Amino acid sequence: MTTTAAITAIGGFVPEFVLTNAALTKMVDTSDEWITTRTGIKERRILKPMSLGTSHMAIAAAQELIQKKNIDPSSIDLVIVCTATPDMPVSSTASYVATEIGATTAFGYDLQGACSGFLFGMSAASAHICSGRYQKVLLIGADTMSSIVDYSDRATCVIFGDGAGAALFEPNTEGLGLQDEVLRVDGKGRDYLRIKAGGSMRPASTETLNKREHFLYQEGKSVFKFAVSNMTSAAFQLLEQNNLNTDDIDHVVAHQANKRILDSVAKNLDLNAGQLLVNIERYGNTTAATLPLLLWDYEKKLKKNQKLLFTAFGGGFTWGAIYLTWAYNT
Ligand code: UT7
Repeated sequence: MTTTAAITAIGGFVPEFVLTNAALTKMVDTSDEWITTRTGIKERRILKPMSLGTSHMAIAAAQELIQKKNIDPSSIDLVIVCTATPDMPVSSTASYVATEIGATTAFGYDLQGACSGFLFGMSAASAHICSGRYQKVLLIGADTMSSIVDYSDRATCVIFGDGAGAALFEPNTEGLGLQDEVLRVDGKGRDYLRIKAGGSMRPASTETLNKREHFLYQEGKSVFKFAVSNMTSAAFQLLEQNNLNTDDIDHVVAHQANKRILDSVAKNLDLNAGQLLVNIERYGNTTAATLPLLLWDYEKKLKKNQKLLFTAFGGGFTWGAIYLTWAYNT
C-alpha cells in the first residue's frame, strides 16, 4: 500500500501584546475605518521584547503540539522552520528550535518561501515522509514581521503581525493527508515585494541604514492583483487535476494577507459562505504563520476525511495550492 503524509497534530502561539488599529492611529496617519475596510484587520500581535526572536514563538508552538499529542520530542526526525524572519541570517532557526524542544536526533532547516513558506513546507514535509526515511516531521511557520516592518510607513505597518503555528506530519496508510499540489515561483516578483538591503547584493552599511532599506517594501496594489489571480488559477488547476469542484471542498485554508484578497478569491472560486476559514481580523498577516494559525484556530471544526484546499501567495513571487484530506477528529 502507498504511504501518504498526513497532519496528525497542530500547535500554535501568538504573543500577548495586542497592537490595535486605535494604537496605530497614534503612530501613523491612518484610521480604524481605513484599515478595516481596506484590509479587514482589527488587531495584530507583536512579539515583545523583539530580541526573543522568531525561535521563541516557533518553540512555543512546537511545545504546545508536543504536549497535546503527548509525543516524545526525541522521536521527531526533522524540524522545518518556514520563515522570512529567522533569528539570524546564519545559523538556522530550525537548528536552535530542534535543540530547545528536545528533538535530539533530528535534523532541520529553514525554508524561505515568504507568505507561501508553509505551503512549500507542506510539500517538503510530505516528500520526506513519503521517502520512507522519516516518520515524524515537524513543520513550523513562524514570523516576527514586526522586526522588518517600518512603523513610520502606513502602507505596510497596518497589515503585518507576529505569530507561529506548527503541524506534525506522519505516515498514513488510509490514503489521508497531502494528495496533490500546484506550486510556482516567478523571480520577477522581487521588484514588487522585498527587503532591498542586508543580503549579499547590498550588505548593511551606513547608507542602507540611512535609506531605511532594511525594512519591507511592497507595491501593494500590484501585489494585490498578482495574489488574487495566481491563487485563483493555482486553485482551479489543482481542482481540475483531481476532478474536483469547489463544492467538494469542505474548507479553504488561504493565506491571510488582506480580507479583500480573500473575498476576491472566494468570489472567483464561487465558494459558499463558511467554506473559507478566516482569522485575519485578529492577527493580521503573519506571513508563514497564517496557514498553521488557521488550522490551530479551527482545529475543532476539522473532521477526519474532510477535503481541505490550501492556497497562498507571497514575496518572490511564490504561490500555489495544495489538496489535503484531514486525518483525525479532535
Ligand atoms: O502577504 C502577501 C503579500 N502582501 C499582500 O498580499 C498585500 C497586498 N496588498 C494590499 O493588501 C493592499 O494593496 C494594501 C492594504 C497594502 C493597500 O491597499 P490599497 O487599497 O491597494 O491602497 P493603495 O496602496 O492603492 O492606497 C490608496 C490610498 C493612497 O492614498 P492616495 O494616494 O489615494 O491619496 C494611500 O496613501 O490609501 C492611502 N493609504 C492609507 N490611508 C490610510 C495607504 N495606507 C493607508 C493607511 N491609512 N494605512
